[in-house]
Amino acid sequence: MNQDHESLENLLSENRHFLPSSEFVMQANAQHGEYAYANMDRLAFWDNQACDLKWERKWDTVLEWNSPYAKWFVGGKLNASVNALDRHVDEGRGDRVAFHFEGEPGDTKTITYSQLLTEVKKTANALIELGISAGDRVAIYMPMIPEAAIAMLACARIGAPHSVVFGGFSADALLSRIQDADAKLVITSDGGFRKGSAFALKPAVDEALKGQHNVEKVLVVARTHQETAWTDRDIWWHEIVDRQSPDHVAESFDAEHPLFILYTSGTTAKPKGIFHTTGGYLTQVAYTHKVVFDIKPETDVYWCTADVGWITGHSYVVYGPLMNGATQVMYEGTPDTPHKGRIFEIIAKYGVTILYTAPTLIRTWMKWGDEFPQAHNLESLRLLGSVGEPINPEAWMWYREIIGGNRCPIVDTWWQTETGAIMISPLPGITVTKPGSAMRPIPGISAKVVDDSATPVADGHGGYLILDQPWPSMLRGIWGEDARYKETYWSRFEGIYFAGDGAKLDDEGAIWLLGRVDDVMNISGHRISTTEVESALVSHEAVAEAAVVGATDAMTGQGIVAFVILRAGIAHADGEELNTQLRNHVAKEIGAIAKPRQILIVNELPKTRSGKIMRRLLKDVAEDRVVGDATTLADPNVMKKIAEGLNSAKDED
Ligand code: WTA
Repeated sequence: MNQDHESLENLLSENRHFLPSSEFVMQANAQHGEYAYANMDRLAFWDNQACDLKWERKWDTVLEWNSPYAKWFVGGKLNASVNALDRHVDEGRGDRVAFHFEGEPGDTKTITYSQLLTEVKKTANALIELGISAGDRVAIYMPMIPEAAIAMLACARIGAPHSVVFGGFSADALLSRIQDADAKLVITSDGGFRKGSAFALKPAVDEALKGQHNVEKVLVVARTHQETAWTDRDIWWHEIVDRQSPDHVAESFDAEHPLFILYTSGTTAKPKGIFHTTGGYLTQVAYTHKVVFDIKPETDVYWCTADVGWITGHSYVVYGPLMNGATQVMYEGTPDTPHKGRIFEIIAKYGVTILYTAPTLIRTWMKWGDEFPQAHNLESLRLLGSVGEPINPEAWMWYREIIGGNRCPIVDTWWQTETGAIMISPLPGITVTKPGSAMRPIPGISAKVVDDSATPVADGHGGYLILDQPWPSMLRGIWGEDARYKETYWSRFEGIYFAGDGAKLDDEGAIWLLGRVDDVMNISGHRISTTEVESALVSHEAVAEAAVVGATDAMTGQGIVAFVILRAGIAHADGEELNTQLRNHVAKEIGAIAKPRQILIVNELPKTRSGKIMRRLLKDVAEDRVVGDATTLADPNVMKKIAEGLNSAKDED
């Protein structure tokens, strides 16, 4: 067996199984037979799902596949905003709440489907007045406020692809994205509220626009009403949108009309503009939102905590839930403002039934302590979701017990900006779940774990996660970089989509995601996933969070270096003894070969604004190098603090 492939063999074993309750099973949207139905004829299955959308013209062909270029629902015509809004209003659901908005300072707004439609129509009219037409790109740089969703839907309504840039990105990052997509308009706000105070956004737009670009106008929402510098290019949202006609008849666009571009980091410094089209994307997003989250639009209150700046916010805050007519919560701020129970307080306030969040937040809650969730009534919850990174079994169990009261199925959903929609996940009324596993591909999707020669591995073995059949919501390319598209996704295995993730099949064929393949370590010829060691560390009672890197080691090739945050109340002074305990614990969980060479106790970990740990920076520290580019960190000072902490620890030695 090839070394690279062997490197993905995972050692962790997890034997707990959880069945959905019979009450849940009986009412579930996806029933037994869903997989068999899709397996019988994949294209007929997706054809059927697309019929749930509202089309002005039905498609002629379900799929045209010239690897690696897919066209779905060829010849069909539809409008994304009509599917998200008009349809519900036309069918008598206009009074249903679309968003319960909760601002960080405590201000709230309830927006029904018909109100949302009116706002989107007015905004679409404003965009037209500003000279935007189908095909023009619009950059959206906003906090989590309803106008962010309104702006996206207004762009979609007139066929102008949006490029949402996360509000936490810098002026430089914004400029490079504006340039790459050649955006004609930027929609932003004066600022937003975060961690108890108002922050400004508009100055970053002004700064970005000092560079080269073709932006003609900047549309600015007044959110905080702070002093805002102004130029001739700028126009207040309320001054142009409020005076527009509430009528706008939407034009239908080709199923393959670009809906949006969303930038994501690649292995090089230049982000990739992942671009998605309309018909296939909406079909898979609506279907997955319906079956994975089991949405019952009449009764559920759904809350996905993602920001619209990320793909999760696109697919499971804006398009999926609205297409399904769901009522949702949108929250502007941070989970610890004004107190660490804020999220739980909001769940209780609105009676949230479905919560979709990220492992990093779940582990943060674990670190803060059980008393925060326990101070609020979370009994309305009936389903929990997780996304963005592997969820370690201990966090999964904590989520199940403390948040879900042992009654809510958990859906651990694997997907990517590139896949557009959920690809691997339990179906909550069907799947017997295991803590930490995303289980298996959803109906209509083919995912496999393969070795170096693209041969599927047997159960119990690890390898690379690939998608060997096109899917409706797949990316249609990297904006303006066709060669990069082929090279990044389709060249590792000829003609097969390579996701960049390592995965293992357990003895029952369930899929365990092991993190990006570049995060797999090689220790004395034994290959171990960083995720696996992290998971082992976090299963120790003293540990709240852990990040593991493989640092170059003259003796063993790589050595495991672990950065560990202790749970509240565990004293740092335990030093050596705790260190030995943790190393032994890992040895017990995985095996002696997985014992970290070094464990560094830290107070914080370097995370991107979307919550991913930047192992590359930790690797620099572990290898005694100058720490590399840290500009994408949520808190750029974290690396300094870690380095200082380590130096003072060295001084004491
Ligand atoms: C990781 C987020 C394990 C994975 C929707 C993927 C996951 C990358 C999971 C995409 C999961 C996402 N279990 N790993 N449930 N979900 N990932 O583009 O490495 O921000 O390739 O999309 O996140 O991140 P992205």
